[in-house]
Amino acid sequence: MTNMTVDLPLFAATTSPSTARSSEAMAMPERVMLYPELRYMGSKKRLLPWIHGVLSTLDFETALDPFSGTGSVGYLMKAMGRRVVASDFLNFSHVVARATIENNDTRLDDSTVDDLIHGGGDGRRFIQDTFSGVFYTADDLRFLDRLSCNIRLLPNPHAQSLAFAALFRSCLKRQPRGVFTVSGDLSKYDDGRRDLRLSLEDHFREQVSVYNDAVFDNGRKNISYNSDVFDIDVKNIDLVYLDPPYVPRSDDNCYVKRYHFLEGLSAYWEDMPIKQATKVKKIEKKYTPFSYRRTAITAFDDMFSKFSQSQIVLSYSSNGYPGLEDLVSMMGKYKKRVEVFQRQHRYHFGNHAQAVRSSVLEYLIVGR
Ligand SMILES: C[S@@+](CC[C@H](N)C(=O)[O-])C[C@H]1O[C@@H](n2cnc3c(N)ncnc32)[C@H](O)[C@@H]1O
Repeated sequence: MTNMTVDLPLFAATTSPSTARSSEAMAMPERVMLYPELRYMGSKKRLLPWIHGVLSTLDFETALDPFSGTGSVGYLMKAMGRRVVASDFLNFSHVVARATIENNDTRLDDSTVDDLIHGGGDGRRFIQDTFSGVFYTADDLRFLDRLSCNIRLLPNPHAQSLAFAALFRSCLKRQPRGVFTVSGDLSKYDDGRRDLRLSLEDHFREQVSVYNDAVFDNGRKNISYNSDVFDIDVKNIDLVYLDPPYVPRSDDNCYVKRYHFLEGLSAYWEDMPIKQATKVKKIEKKYTPFSYRRTAITAFDDMFSKFSQSQIVLSYSSNGYPGLEDLVSMMGKYKKRVEVFQRQHRYHFGNHAQAVRSSVLEYLIVGR
């Protein structure tokens, strides 16, 4: 299967043909591949051409992406001209989607960036005091205290989000592992990458420009929320794209464990108490029923029921639980027709030397 073609469904619960908007299938808007990729567990950035091919066969004007993560799929649907509602239970993900999906026109000019970098801050030193010797140099930590304060003082919420998005990507690039689970001497992960040599300030300047380029107006009023999927109350949504975490065979799938630093930074740790006994200064993890075998099946069932009035597109992997057949039959309780599209995908996670590469089958399970 190639990236740019609409795959034939692997199987369908009924046999009516899918034809809507098929002319769009070959032409994914170019800007989508320029979307600033975040090293993020489960990011669909590299699958976007395939997801675009499948979405192009569906008829929808409004879309909800309630597990927005890096925002890549919501941004794809924005670039397809649809009105998009993005949401995630992590605040930092919501902020990224506000910058790139909700924000249609705000960019940061050079003088604002200079003010952000050189402005005095408010003297608070929470980051320096808490994270000394954990992830970044003393200079970086001073910069983070000052910059994050200056960002919060920006009057325009979209400007704030854009600056934070640039800062989050800077923090991920500067971190050798791209996750915040290990601390202290990280020199063994230093493989000479430019990203590890640049200071956070240098990264920030570059990333502002990257995010400025991602801003565009699709003529729709898009919106980003910070919400649990089960608390979202939006009406008149034609299509819901669901990309929940899946119960993995080993390890866990905790996003807070991996990205707690960005989550804390997004709110300057307000109402996010640090677990002081932890080496990496974690915050409390957030409960999600999708993480546990004992709750996952009910969670999927509840979710399909909640969105039964919309077309549903579910992203899933062959290494997740519950399995494909269970998901198809659950979705079939709420949808007349269920189709499955699949493709091989290789996830790369970690740095070059220690990359964890796993090859899985990716599914898009479409219910209408
Ligand atoms: C697989 S990732 C989504 C990746 C995203 N599609 C992308 O391309 O970047 C799953 C996301 O679900 C979020 N999440 C997990 N449980 C949630 C819940 N109960 N409600 C809302 N969001 C949740 C996580 O914070 C994470 O960002």
